[in-house]
Amino acid sequence: MSLLRRKKDLPSHNAYAVVTGAGSGIGRSFALEIARRRGVVVCADLKLEGAQETVRLIEAQGGKAFAVACDVGVAEQVEQLAEQAEELMGHPVTLLINNAGVGLGGKIEETTLEDWRWCMNVNLWGVIHGCHYFVPKFKQLGRGAIVNVASAASYTAAPEMSAYNTTKAGVRALSETLFAELKKDKISVNVLCPTLVPTNIIKDGRLPARYSKLANHALMNYAMVTSDSVATLTLNRLDSGELYTTPQVDAKLFWLMKRAAPNLYAKFLGFSYQFVK
Ligand SMILES: NC(=O)c1ccc[n+]([C@@H]2O[C@H](COP(=O)([O-])OP(=O)(O)OC[C@H]3O[C@@H](n4cnc5c(N)ncnc54)[C@H](O)[C@@H]3O)[C@@H](O)[C@H]2O)c1
Repeated sequence: MSLLRRKKDLPSHNAYAVVTGAGSGIGRSFALEIARRRGVVVCADLKLEGAQETVRLIEAQGGKAFAVACDVGVAEQVEQLAEQAEELMGHPVTLLINNAGVGLGGKIEETTLEDWRWCMNVNLWGVIHGCHYFVPKFKQLGRGAIVNVASAASYTAAPEMSAYNTTKAGVRALSETLFAELKKDKISVNVLCPTLVPTNIIKDGRLPARYSKLANHALMNYAMVTSDSVATLTLNRLDSGELYTTPQVDAKLFWLMKRAAPNLYAKFLGFSYQFVK
């Protein structure tokens, strides 16, 4: 990227942005950071109060934002969000953060099909809906940018996370495809793949009681990053034209191990899992 490129030409600066799942955690951090970069933000969330609180925080730092209730798993609601966002901001959307997601854990036989559908619907279909309805608008505008929030789970394949891992692998594959497909349309794509980030995802998720407390404790106390630092890094990577954001050292290490020796990696996981009670 040219050093002479002006900040205002970068996708995360002066953006007209839509952030899904903006009422908490990483989504809220994205919304706040985009506003700090002089963007206007539509904060969409299933829980309107959360989105409204994010708007209040943005306004308190002198920014401009709007709260919208939207279930990303429902195609019609995302279609409406794409229309409404443009009306509210008085400008076409230039940046979409497909962030909304839910946590689900458990062995394959204890994960109900209803759990699978819930997780697939929010984590994967939510991102598909976003790309489906916003990309044509970006093409019409002649530019645009998308951040899809996947997870290191998209490649780590940890046991007892089959549904979550499957959704995130889908988000990563979709992002990789669109990165190449949309380049000629001047639409940038970045996919975020973190390990632990301290947020409400486990508290509000569906995890077996035998380890949900422990998992939440690890998330809140042993994460190497904050949601704010993850959002800032991701937007910087997007601006640099990079596809992947893997914020933590462990996320990078798992990525390298998986790619360098995929069979050995799978055998190692299976071996270690034998000792998990
Ligand atoms: N926290 C982590 O350790 C971690 C790690 C890797 C990836 N992620 C991903 O980051 C993203 C954000 O999660 P978070 O950790 O900030 O969790 P969070 O629970 O703090 O925030 C998720 C937000 O999404 C909203 N949401 C849930 N279902 C929705 C729906 N159907 N439509 C619209 N909004 C909905 C929730 O109301 C909430 O405000 C998710 O995609 C998650 O999978 C999180």
